[in-house]
Amino acid sequence: MKKLTESTEIRLDPWMSLYAGRASGLSASEVRSLFAVASRPEVVSLAGGMPFVTALGDDVIQQAVGRVMSHSGAMALQYGSGQGDPGLREHITEVMALEGIAANADDVVITTGSQQGLDLVAKLFIDPGDVILAEGPSYVGAIGVFRSYQADIVHVPFDHDGLNPQALQDTIDRVTAEGKTIKFLYTIPDFHNPAGVTLSASRRPEILEITKRHGILLVEDNPYGLLYFDAPPPDAIRSIDDAGILYLGSFSKTLAPGFRVGWILAPHGIREKLILAQESAVLSPSSFSQMVISDYLAHSDWKGQINIFRGLYRERRDAMLDALGENLPNLSWTIPNGGFYVWLTLAPGMDSKAMLPLAVRELVAYTPGTAFYADGDGHSEIRLSFCYPTPAEIRVGVQRLAKVVGNELSLLETFHPTAPVRIPTKQSRHVSSPPPNLN
Ligand SMILES: Cc1ncc(COP(=O)(O)O)c(C=O)c1O
Repeated sequence: MKKLTESTEIRLDPWMSLYAGRASGLSASEVRSLFAVASRPEVVSLAGGMPFVTALGDDVIQQAVGRVMSHSGAMALQYGSGQGDPGLREHITEVMALEGIAANADDVVITTGSQQGLDLVAKLFIDPGDVILAEGPSYVGAIGVFRSYQADIVHVPFDHDGLNPQALQDTIDRVTAEGKTIKFLYTIPDFHNPAGVTLSASRRPEILEITKRHGILLVEDNPYGLLYFDAPPPDAIRSIDDAGILYLGSFSKTLAPGFRVGWILAPHGIREKLILAQESAVLSPSSFSQMVISDYLAHSDWKGQINIFRGLYRERRDAMLDALGENLPNLSWTIPNGGFYVWLTLAPGMDSKAMLPLAVRELVAYTPGTAFYADGDGHSEIRLSFCYPTPAEIRVGVQRLAKVVGNELSLLETFHPTAPVRIPTKQSRHVSSPPPNLN
């Protein structure tokens, strides 16, 4: 069987035998294959995490591009500094101040989206077999990057208050006792992707204290922090201390992902290495994108624009929660106070990955929970995104999903009558907290 697989692969790609070991960590995620299916106009996609960029003011970007090109066009079209445009780095310190971070622009390194920030961090720190700790579930794009550097990703359980400090401590003890090296904890404290939960204020210093005590870096990935609906989340973990933390930010969700501009705020020594790694990866991040964003931040009401996004996503979050309550009252889900995602827990025994083609046949798409675990977990979980579809589309999408879930449940009951499906009761449904099996 192994032979057959190898020879099939060689027929598809004759260079198979030449790939480096790390290439085996590169595989298409569920999200990627979904984009093709879900982009059919008749499908309501609750799958991808695309920001609703159409809500950007009509001509704010056009005006910024016009000003940049008429005042400094030659510079915008030229290579720039590997660390990134100093003007933009100054603006970024103002953005981070909103999250309680006092930073020096010298410590900011601009990246091509925070996705590239993750790649640079992984490149600097991961040797094959190193352990990276991450919430379970975690961001699919980060899992992909860490895997591509042959990391051993170990998930840490968390609950409705985010990462659990005791669980983190226990995991560190267990992994250390196995003789493995842990390089960093990767965490998304605000409006987690995919789980929608937020790390409580009291746990933030506890988590940092644990990582520092064990000589582990903390990588704080925070693209959603400013997109809150009710109260702002607690200040960033990076606001507590500037040592031992790499903070990753992005303009993808608060402005537009098409610019591909994010950043890393790093302690001095690491910053130097990051700049070298950045230069070797892309020479310099896009001067054009950086200058347009810098101009936008200087001349537009960017905070007002973020408020517009908040209102819009809040309305969509409400539409999704109402639709879930009406159509799937016996399941449980998280109640996010910001960001893009709701995490839905199906009844035990249900398989979200196997159910996906049936859902697409009913013209609704979602991301199966398995995409967000490195260890094959997540079969009875689903990520639902409310950022892109309109409230009306969200309602239709959830109705369609409820039909598919209902069919699956009756099938399960028919074929496993001796092991009745335990549907979570209404009491286990979490209003403002996550499902019980977030681990
Ligand atoms: C948690 C998290 N980190 C990083 C990224 C990458 O964002 P970008 O590269 O567009 O800045 C995303 C995108 O969805 C994300 O959700």
